[in-house]
Amino acid sequence: MSAKLILAFDTSTEAIALGIADASADNAIISSDSILAPRCANERLLSCVEEMMEREGLEKRDIAAIVCGRGPGSFTGVRIGVATAKGIASGLGCPLHGVSTLDAVAWEAWANGIRGQLAVLGDALRKEVYPVRYELEDSGIVRLDPDGVDKPAAVAKRWARYYAGTTNPAITPLSITGDGLAKFLGVLEEELLKEEVSFGLLDERFWHPTGRGLILAYQDACRSGRLDSGNPNDLLPVYTRLSDAEENEKARKAKGLPQRGVLLNPIDFIEQSDSPEGLAPSTTEDVPHDGVALDQELTLIGSAISGDVELEEAPLDERKPLILAIESSCDETAAAIIDGKREMVADLLATQVDFHKRFGGVVPEIASRKHTEAIVGIVEETMEHAGEALGLGRGLRWSDLDAIAVTQGPGLIGALVVGVAFAKGASWATGLPLIGVNHMEGHIYANQISNPDIEPPMVVSLVSGGHTMLVHVRDWGDYEILGQTLDDAVGEAYDKVAKALGLGYPGGPVISKLAAQGNPAAIDFPRAMLHSHDYRFSLSGLKTAVMTYVKQELDAGRELSLPDLAASFQRAVVDVQVAKAVTAVKETGVHEFCLGGGVAANPELRAALTEAMEKIGVHVTLPKLSDCTDNAGMIAAVALDSYRAGTFLDLTADAKANLPL
Ligand code: KG4
Ligand code: ZN
Repeated sequence: MSAKLILAFDTSTEAIALGIADASADNAIISSDSILAPRCANERLLSCVEEMMEREGLEKRDIAAIVCGRGPGSFTGVRIGVATAKGIASGLGCPLHGVSTLDAVAWEAWANGIRGQLAVLGDALRKEVYPVRYELEDSGIVRLDPDGVDKPAAVAKRWARYYAGTTNPAITPLSITGDGLAKFLGVLEEELLKEEVSFGLLDERFWHPTGRGLILAYQDACRSGRLDSGNPNDLLPVYTRLSDAEENEKARKAKGLPQRGVLLNPIDFIEQSDSPEGLAPSTTEDVPHDGVALDQELTLIGSAISGDVELEEAPLDERKPLILAIESSCDETAAAIIDGKREMVADLLATQVDFHKRFGGVVPEIASRKHTEAIVGIVEETMEHAGEALGLGRGLRWSDLDAIAVTQGPGLIGALVVGVAFAKGASWATGLPLIGVNHMEGHIYANQISNPDIEPPMVVSLVSGGHTMLVHVRDWGDYEILGQTLDDAVGEAYDKVAKALGLGYPGGPVISKLAAQGNPAAIDFPRAMLHSHDYRFSLSGLKTAVMTYVKQELDAGRELSLPDLAASFQRAVVDVQVAKAVTAVKETGVHEFCLGGGVAANPELRAALTEAMEKIGVHVTLPKLSDCTDNAGMIAAVALDSYRAGTFLDLTADAKANLPL
């Protein structure tokens, strides 16, 4: 039987809307549902899909297209649906079409015989609503407003005026629906009654979108020629406002205020520096760039890593298992494919750093949006590169793979869910097992990529933008956290100091470049917890000390030496890192020391740790510079061990912001 089913879903509201239609019978609706699942769409969506398919005796290979609600709705909710839909459509190789969540609500009302004026009030959270008016006729629906977001009181006043002036209730009844009514019905009612507008309130069952509504909206788009391209790469959520960081930036700019928390103007640095081009981040210096453009906005870094000739000629069977790994925990959308010999077949990265730079740090909402845009493209490119590296003369296909792995946590929750939802969708569609990887374990495995011979037990120092910890690796998969930071992470300290100095984001590379030209003994910054006799760290005091010093010097009218400042700050960080790492190695009695995380790219930290460890006869492994910052290769390396151990996730798995190591 040829594919003929349309699978439709929407997770933009507190309900999971779900429907299946028969494309071979004029999209006749086979099943439609709307299931309340507040805050657990990622856990429940695929189980609900599976249940409906089973109940109707349908097979996923018969799915001809996916239809997905694009919102507006809760940002994370919309992205869960959209990312899952992208994963399914990629996995099945079928088209993906987006429809408006509010249109789906209106179409469900239409299907239930509602005619005349319909006002849909969607809940936009944060005491705002998405208001759209429609006209429902026997022949279909007409949307009267574009998408927008507003305060409930303003909408209520506007609607009251409009319906009082334009509607004759006897001829054109007004109906009101939408999940915004749960909170704002009172506000709306008051204004409408003031203007003596009579209206009917739809039953609560119709406040959320339904599968039928989505399918009717899709059919309408087909009929009217407004259907989108169907390319899973193109589908984007509907957003009616920018991230808070961008909104604040806009407001401050309008008032002529500088960016919050910046002490120095970056121009000061450019003027002092001999080589302003030295500002460019340095952590990816040894990445073999091949200049593939994902799109005009995101910067794609990566490589197709060919095995030697012998490997290239080997049939695919000898490279098995082949595992695709996806990483989206922070601000890099990355994918990699590893083979059974631990060769990295392909390893790509779409970095968003340029979008976060001007805010002096990663803006979670921007990160989530960019992951949603990039995920399909990065996976497709990675499959292409892998096919090339394996000498297949074509891109790798899902059917060539043995498993799909994804970073499950820790990280930014809104960023993680995009990767997890996509991977789950692809896993469901292809039947490939799903592997969840701990991001911090990935940073540990980055050392195994650079030195395949290392064997636990060992001590690993993990230093990144989100973590600072010393880990005793008793065996692969058996970790004891010796201690961690009580406040800021090392990378965070670099980033905050860089932001205050107007040096931009990320702070690590630019500060370490400056430090190389400065005197580390120039300023005596505190070495917090150096003598605490444990493995706890604290970095917020150091950051404050740097800022206090800068203010004091500026107030006194003295000229700052940024290189001396950077070198002294860095020496304070490194001294504590080295001292605690040495104690940890001695106390655990291990003979191997490793480093991981973005700050592991810091040349002074690498050199100081290597020197100190060699002095006490401990072997040191450092990750390649390109494997220090977030990447998917390290996730793939962990996944290979999980695959061999048979550790898999089921379809109810969700992202976990605080996933412990
Ligand atoms: O591991 P990562 O890419 O992301 C997290 O999981 O946090 O680490 C990013 C962090 C940023 O804070 C960045 O400033 C820092 O690593 N970093 C560095 C250097 N390169 C990146 N810190 C010090 N020196 C560097 N060369
Ligand atoms: Zn990381």
